[in-house]
Amino acid sequence: MAKEFKRYLVTSALPYANGPVHIGHLAGVYIPSDIYTRYLRRRGRDVLSICGSDEHGVAITIKARKEGVSPKEIIDRYHNLIKRSFERLGMSFDIYSRTSSPVHAQTASDFFRKLYAEGKFIEKTSEQYYDEEAQQFLADRYIVGTCPHCQNEKAYGDQCEKCGSTLSPDELIAPHSALSGSPLVKRETKHWYLPLDKYEGFLREWILEGHKEWRPNVYGQCKSWLDLGLQPRAVSRDLDWGIPVPVEGAEGKVLYVWFDAPIGYISATKELTPDWERYWKDSGTKMVHFIGKDNIVFHCIVFPSMLKAHGEYILPENVPANEFLNLEGDKISTSRNWAVWLHEYLDEFPGKEDVLRYVLCANAPESKDNDFTWKDFQARNNNELVAVLGNFVNRALVLTQKYYGGEVPACGSLTDYDRGTLAELQAVKATLEQNIENYRFREALKEAMNVARIGNKYLADCEPWKLVKTDPERVKTILNIALQITANLSIVVEPFMPFTAAKLLAMLRLEPLDWERIGATDLVAAGHRIGTPELLFEKIEDDVIQAQL
Ligand code: 2FM
Ligand code: ZN
Repeated sequence: MAKEFKRYLVTSALPYANGPVHIGHLAGVYIPSDIYTRYLRRRGRDVLSICGSDEHGVAITIKARKEGVSPKEIIDRYHNLIKRSFERLGMSFDIYSRTSSPVHAQTASDFFRKLYAEGKFIEKTSEQYYDEEAQQFLADRYIVGTCPHCQNEKAYGDQCEKCGSTLSPDELIAPHSALSGSPLVKRETKHWYLPLDKYEGFLREWILEGHKEWRPNVYGQCKSWLDLGLQPRAVSRDLDWGIPVPVEGAEGKVLYVWFDAPIGYISATKELTPDWERYWKDSGTKMVHFIGKDNIVFHCIVFPSMLKAHGEYILPENVPANEFLNLEGDKISTSRNWAVWLHEYLDEFPGKEDVLRYVLCANAPESKDNDFTWKDFQARNNNELVAVLGNFVNRALVLTQKYYGGEVPACGSLTDYDRGTLAELQAVKATLEQNIENYRFREALKEAMNVARIGNKYLADCEPWKLVKTDPERVKTILNIALQITANLSIVVEPFMPFTAAKLLAMLRLEPLDWERIGATDLVAAGHRIGTPELLFEKIEDDVIQAQL
């Protein structure tokens, strides 16, 4: 039997505040997390959704240097842009915080100090790459070289963004400084390391034995990491941007960004509610991390080891990482400006927030990399949202206006065909729930859209527009059923397309309906007056798509 949880803590990877968010981030992390959270809320579960900007690390300082501005200017600019774009897209985080917040500095420092005091770190002096021209140690992205796994020539000192491998600078082929391009020398420096090797036993037991239900890509990556054997990992860096290492003798050193960033989930919860400990320290909480595949090792190996070392916190129940989304057959790339940026989409397609949410969920890279194309965007809008969902709702509402002046007709006696249709409607709930609870959001969306398909087929088969002349009583029943299906749609589409759900409710003149009512056939009472029908979606013409291409 699956464990019952009292509450949920849903985290979404904190985006680096060094650039805007694009469709790859959305499809990989934020759309799935929002669907999941909205669903849980609709079911009346106790849930917190946590996100915020990741504002430390070399990603930020590199961007600042490139533009000749301060890191603070960069994080303020992008934090505000990202936060606002998420709001416009209908992301429903309970908090969108940032890792430059004082609460976070305090939380991350306390975390480090506790582990330090308990002797959980190794202190080690070693030789690290140094740029004599720039007069600084080169951490992570300050070193560029060729990835030993995929030969990408622009791999960073900590990670290859092409194949997703986690790297150390010594593994790179022909490493050089991203700052000055000058040849690298090595200098001695002291750092603190988390001995991941000591957590191998715990991780094997917890993941490989205890979480066989995790997605195969996530489970597989963890297994291959564990099979290769874990090494101690430095949790500090020689940088001047970040949270200072909070112990004596650590001048000029800051916490490694991947040490402080996941603690950001804790800090943000603290900022949100005085009751934060119940979410983080009680085993009745189900914590789920939504991330992209390049973050798997940090969320499944490193952060859990940190949590374990700390000792007071719960571990994630699942980490449903997605693969990557490509754009028109090519990898999304910030440096080549090959991306669809969220804020630009929102400006160029006002009122079409749900179309993007829909297309990105329908195409989510859940089990393999996937492709976003503008042609597919157009086709899904025109053939699915307009032709199926919009068309059905419009017919049901317009016919009700036309025949009954907007007053919901009563349902008479049911035919076998009616009963069959209603039975199909009633079957949706369980399938939808199963898919969402198991992080199969594409399938779940298909099931939600199935309600519109059921409705469309029902109207097309019953042809009330013909019957109205010969059997007006029968038409009342048909439209009553069509309106019940429409009201059902307002519930099932909400997690995926919240703006559309709100429009449906407004047109039906109904208050939001309980999730438990899915399948019910008394959601709109006979005699209730509906509002004015409006088109839910409009066709997207070729010239609009051409302009994007
Ligand atoms: O890969 C990234 O974009 C990171 N900024 C994700 C951080 S997730 C968490 F740990 F904060
Ligand atoms: Zn690579």
